[in-house]
Order: sequence, then structure tokens, then C-alpha cells
Amino acid sequence: MKKKLNIIFLVILVLSIHLSCQNEVKNEDETSFEFAFLTDIHIKPEMDAPKGFQMAIDKVNVLNPDFVLTGGDLVYDVMRGNKERGDSLFSLYKKMITGFNMPLYNCIGNHDLFAIYEESPEDESHPDYKYGMYERYLGDTYYSFDHKGWHFIVLNSLDVTDNKRYKGFFHEEQLKWLENDLLKVNLATPIVITTHIPMISARSQILGRSNSINSHEVFKLIEDHNLKLILQGHIHWTEYGYVNDKFHYLTGGSIAGNGWKGRRHNTKEGFTLVKVRGESISLDYVDHGWEKERLSKEKVVSK
Ligand SMILES: [Fe+2]
Repeated sequence: MKKKLNIIFLVILVLSIHLSCQNEVKNEDETSFEFAFLTDIHIKPEMDAPKGFQMAIDKVNVLNPDFVLTGGDLVYDVMRGNKERGDSLFSLYKKMITGFNMPLYNCIGNHDLFAIYEESPEDESHPDYKYGMYERYLGDTYYSFDHKGWHFIVLNSLDVTDNKRYKGFFHEEQLKWLENDLLKVNLATPIVITTHIPMISARSQILGRSNSINSHEVFKLIEDHNLKLILQGHIHWTEYGYVNDKFHYLTGGSIAGNGWKGRRHNTKEGFTLVKVRGESISLDYVDHGWEKERLSKEKVVSK
């Protein structure tokens, strides 16, 4: 009888250790994740850009985050409206992103706007105009998704001025959508926003160049929510800030640097690995090796 009781006790002990380990793994798994933020990729067939982008893809695959977010300027570029060239650039981009081993979520940048410049042979009547070509290849220009209890919002920060240049602007239809999207999000849910043109940056003071004109309207809509992080592109520099003990913002450098030919604003080519642990985040800028590759090529050329 005693032996039987001992066996039952042992079985219960083993089961409870097993369940408690399972819980630990489950909790760890539910509150921890990583994702990569790659912005300003500027893909084109020239300048060895596909090789550089492939180096970034390979590096991301080694790091193996849960997913990838991009920050716009995926191609270089379609603003001047050459449809054949535009199709080849978006096709190249779409083909290359199949190399990622994890899901990828895109964001639109100014260089991805088709035929918006005055010198373009196409105009607003073209089905690919402005957001059209991007949508045809990559889908919606603003949307949201959830991952492990976090809410991710990807915004379209672009519109066109009366004199046919791009501007950083969150249009009315999108702001309405955002208002409705946020109604479905619990106020305690941590939120990440991705935008191409920065919502917040020292760029206006340093360079005298404007950020998204009506960012305050987005901030107003989200003020009661648990905004944790804003990820931005466009400037090809790295800039980090933490506002009111509440949210972080990061302008995430760029994959292409200065058009694949060097650093821009002294920021090395790279991307950001975002690590989430509970409600804490850490941001690591990762060198995908393009600078080393570029400099070694320059040496060969100058010999
Ligand atoms: Fe860019």
C-alpha cells in the first residue's frame, strides 16, 4: 500500500513540475517577442542594391525575429512616373522579400508614390497614380494587426501638394479609420505606430525640414491609449527619444544609406531589432555589413 502511495505521489510530482514548466514557457512565449524594423530600402537593380538588401535579409533571418516591419521608401523610385521602370522595381522588391523566413508588414514612403511629380508623363487619371502602384503590389497603405497582445498600426504619412510634390500628411479618411480602429483596442493594450515621414523629430530644428504636418491629430486620437513606440523612416538617420515617461520614438536609419553609395547624415546602413519583454522594449541598431562590403569594393576600384 505504502509503495502504491509513493508511486501516486511521484506521478503527481512529475505532472506538477511538467505543468509548471509548461506555464513558464507559455508565459515567456506570450509576453516576449522580437521584430525587425527595416526602413528606406530604396531597392533598384543598380549600385549592387539587391546584394545589399539580400545581406540585410540574410542578417534578419539569422536573428530570426517573429516578423519584419518596413518603414517606406521600399523602391527608388516611381515618383516621376515611368510605369515600366516602376513595375520592374516593385516586382524586384516583391520577389526579394520572399527571402524573409518570417511575415513582413509594409509601409509606404514618398519614393513609392507613382507619378506624383509634375514632370511625370502620367497624371491623376492613371490607375497606378499616387498610392495605386504600391496597392497593386503590396496592398493597403494603412492597416493594423495584433501580435502577442500588442497592437501594431501602420500609417500612410503621404499626400501630394497642389504644386505636385509630396508632403507628410495623414489624410482625413485615414484619421477616421484610425479613430474606429482604436475603438476596438483596449486602453491598456500596448501600441506601436509605424510611419514613413516622422511624426516627431529634431529634423525640423536641425535641417529646417518639416515632419508630418498634422501629427498632432494622430497624437490627439491616441492620447488615452497605451502608445509605447513610434517607428519612423525618411531621414536616413538614427534618432531616439522618450517622451513623458510614456512612449519611445525611433527614426531607424536606413538600409540603403545615401543611395547605396555611403552613409547619410553619418548614419551607417542598418536596421533595428526591437525586443519586447512584457511592456519593456529595447532597440538595437544592426549593421547588415553593407558598409564593409561597400568600402572593400571602393578599395578594389581605386587600386
Ligand atoms: Fe528614403
